[in-house]
Amino acid sequence: MTAKFLFNHQSLEHQCLPLKGGKLNIKSYSPQETTRCYPKEQPHRVHGRASVFKASPNSLVSASGKDRYGHWTFGVFDKLGIPGPKPMMYWGTVNRYNQVYYLDDNECAKKYGRVWGSYELRRPMLAVMDPEMLKIILVKECFTFFTNRRNFRLNGDLYDAVNVAEDDQWRRIRNHVTPSFTSGRIKEMFSIMQHHSHKLLVRLQSKMDNKEVKVITIKDIFGPYSMDVMANCVFSVDLDSINEPSNPFITHASKILRFPVPLFLFQGCFPIFLPLLELLGLSLFPKSSTTFFRAVVEKIRAERNESSKKNLADILQNFINYQTNKLGKERENQGLNDHEILSQVTMLLFAGYETSATTLAFLAYTLARHPEVMKSLQQEIDLTFPQKGPVQYDGLMQMEYLSSVVDECLRLYPPAARLERMTKETLKVKGITIPKNMIVMIPVYALHRDPELWPDPEEFKPDRFSKENKQSINPYAYLPFGIGPRNCLGMRFALVMIKLALVKVLQNYNFLICEETEIPLKMHPEGLVGPLQPIKLKLQKRSFNSIDEEN
Ligand code: HEM
Repeated sequence: MTAKFLFNHQSLEHQCLPLKGGKLNIKSYSPQETTRCYPKEQPHRVHGRASVFKASPNSLVSASGKDRYGHWTFGVFDKLGIPGPKPMMYWGTVNRYNQVYYLDDNECAKKYGRVWGSYELRRPMLAVMDPEMLKIILVKECFTFFTNRRNFRLNGDLYDAVNVAEDDQWRRIRNHVTPSFTSGRIKEMFSIMQHHSHKLLVRLQSKMDNKEVKVITIKDIFGPYSMDVMANCVFSVDLDSINEPSNPFITHASKILRFPVPLFLFQGCFPIFLPLLELLGLSLFPKSSTTFFRAVVEKIRAERNESSKKNLADILQNFINYQTNKLGKERENQGLNDHEILSQVTMLLFAGYETSATTLAFLAYTLARHPEVMKSLQQEIDLTFPQKGPVQYDGLMQMEYLSSVVDECLRLYPPAARLERMTKETLKVKGITIPKNMIVMIPVYALHRDPELWPDPEEFKPDRFSKENKQSINPYAYLPFGIGPRNCLGMRFALVMIKLALVKVLQNYNFLICEETEIPLKMHPEGLVGPLQPIKLKLQKRSFNSIDEEN
């Protein structure tokens, strides 16, 4: 226990150390370094203003020690000649220009260019949105220098989930999760999605029949759909949360990606206490929610030992088939152990739930605001599946305009506003020195609104992603699902689930803005990119013959 404490203590402190005398032991990534891509700027100075943490950290250190500790790390980017906002004691550069962290990134990009240095509380973080650098960080050098995300260590029971795991463990787990999301497997799961998209329509119909319901809270429809699809595909349980809005799966899954703020602030200001917090069993994922999911998954897992349920072809069974103890002694390092199986299943549930539900809500909102786009999409839908015909997998995959609409919506509202990678060694990328253990943060939201990469970035223009125009998009300028070996594992699955629900609803209804629709949206400052208040729209039943509607 002590050794673990020491190890973590040292590595974490190292992570926060400023560069002494600007001297670095640099492993140069490439012999052909190019020039920097951001405007030259005055180096920033540390703000000497009063701490925002008046009530918290000060009692732990002496007055002068406190001041030194509060901005001890803040010289790193000055020494590297990297511009960025001025940090304030303890607080760093958090919310320097905007309370919403991804809007803040956007402001920083406008001020400092495509590379800047920021401080998340006391922790230095290099923001990179230069496409050439991203190619190196996310793809070319993923396995050598940039394999892992930042690990907060406070992961509770989910320490071995694929999104958290590191290096060899991550590679082994990822290799076991990937086969559950091949095109063939997704095609097999399509009938489950169809079943739930049908239930979604029935539920919508009953809402529309209720004269008291004038306005629809969009996420109340798409959230349960996405959760029901996930649960059914992952462990063959039909939750039916679409008909039970207060289902605990939905309430817990909605909470899980919102870190408890006091704990987040404390670990950020005092990384030295992280091992202790870890020992105390504290977790950034709300414990009540992870415990809830784990208990459910454990119960379902236990039931699998009954013979009647052994032949289910869901994702959980896929994992069980590759369980360590079934592979034999010589291959025991290749499979997943019991704990790992439970962690992957729990994590997949919420990795897929909110991202997909939010995307569907933004699609409805954006289409309601752009009726001409909605009409063109409905024309494509009616041509592909005439007379509101059943939505088939192959037809759905061939719909080009549908793809453009979804892609453009994910450009404007990428649920994951940032990606992250940790540097394993000090190295130079495109002339910029990235020190060992530095967090490299990719501000996807800001990247998607870079006016040089995306003319009229705030405009919703699906034609950017038409077959002809798509060719000229730099793949490193568009990252809603990340890119490279550590990209989103469920990307194709998510796109099928989203497109199916959208087509089914648009076969039958138009989305309309109404008095209750907030325009422009106020964005939520925490978690995924999302609205602060739920999106509300009106739905209008389409007349059966779409030709009538055109006239
Ligand atoms: C619109 C829906 C979704 C979006 C926008 C999205 C986006 C992302 C992003 C940006 C990442 C990080 C990629 C990186 O760091 O390069 C990620 C990781 C991940 N996503 Fe998704 N995701 C979505 C849906 C799903 C679904 C449905 C699943 C599972 C069924 C899923 C499973 C995962 C997993 C397991 C990872 C971690 C991969 C790893 O660390 O190896 N996602 N996702």
